[in-house]
Amino acid sequence: MVFWFNSDRERGRVFAEAFARDLPDLPFVMDISERDPEEIRYILTWTTPPDLHRFRNLEIVFCIGAGVDQFKTETLPSNVMLVRMVEDGIVRMMQEYVTLAVLALHRNLKAYIGQQADATWRSLPVRQAAQQRIGILGLGMLAQAVIERLKPFGFPFAAWSRSEQHFDGVDCYHGPGGLTPFLARTDILICLLPLTKDTQGLLDGELFAALPAGAALVHVGRGAQLDHDALIAALDEGHLSGAVIDVTEPEPLSPEHVFWRHPKITLTPHIASATQPETAARAVIDNIKRHRDGLDPIGLVDRNRGY
Ligand code: GLV
Repeated sequence: MVFWFNSDRERGRVFAEAFARDLPDLPFVMDISERDPEEIRYILTWTTPPDLHRFRNLEIVFCIGAGVDQFKTETLPSNVMLVRMVEDGIVRMMQEYVTLAVLALHRNLKAYIGQQADATWRSLPVRQAAQQRIGILGLGMLAQAVIERLKPFGFPFAAWSRSEQHFDGVDCYHGPGGLTPFLARTDILICLLPLTKDTQGLLDGELFAALPAGAALVHVGRGAQLDHDALIAALDEGHLSGAVIDVTEPEPLSPEHVFWRHPKITLTPHIASATQPETAARAVIDNIKRHRDGLDPIGLVDRNRGY
């Protein structure tokens, strides 16, 4: 029974130490060239490794990231569990990034950076937090953590999810019928949805038109959810006031892409949140122990839903 770490060696060294300390009976390898594929019980990887059928005793594929849209789930045998990364480091970094983005939009930071470049000393109108309505697309673990972190600022919150959910202090909307009323009451829209066939291209012209005039976007979901031309049109018409974008399709964007230099866009290179090896190793080890105890791992992907 062997654990195969199929990712970068730097993080692998941190994992190897944690496994040696906390799961010493499970051999941990980064190189499987000398191993019989039938020994591999667990794989940690970013995407489906080639020739997966070789691993006939595989039980769990752990994704090194929080999103699993890059997996070809149809090539995973149905008895193999796919588990997305749920770990404290990813959660904390996402809380930081979304807080940064929301406050930057709320307090016109981009405009002031522009004014500084022109040596312009001028105050801009500012809304109070109680009037700045935040709306989160998605109500999974990351969205809930982001809401908890932002709550003390006093923003009113709503969230939209595929199926009905409840969360303390949040107006919850769901399903296709809930989307338009959710958007109509949202001044800062945060996309934290996983990429699925239903969310592909969701952030389009129709969705932007359903937001109130002056609304802004924080996009930390997946690049393929955003229609770039529709965003530029909504910003240039003045319907949207700004956007903070961390994910794009493709990544990286070409140097000519309009997002780089747009005065209302803040663009970052998919850095909102990343798996932290110390906390991720802890999470994977805990999940293997859960599995050994006959429990479902935390972050188990529902193949039908795609997340
Ligand atoms: C990053 O985007 C991840 O999926 O962890």
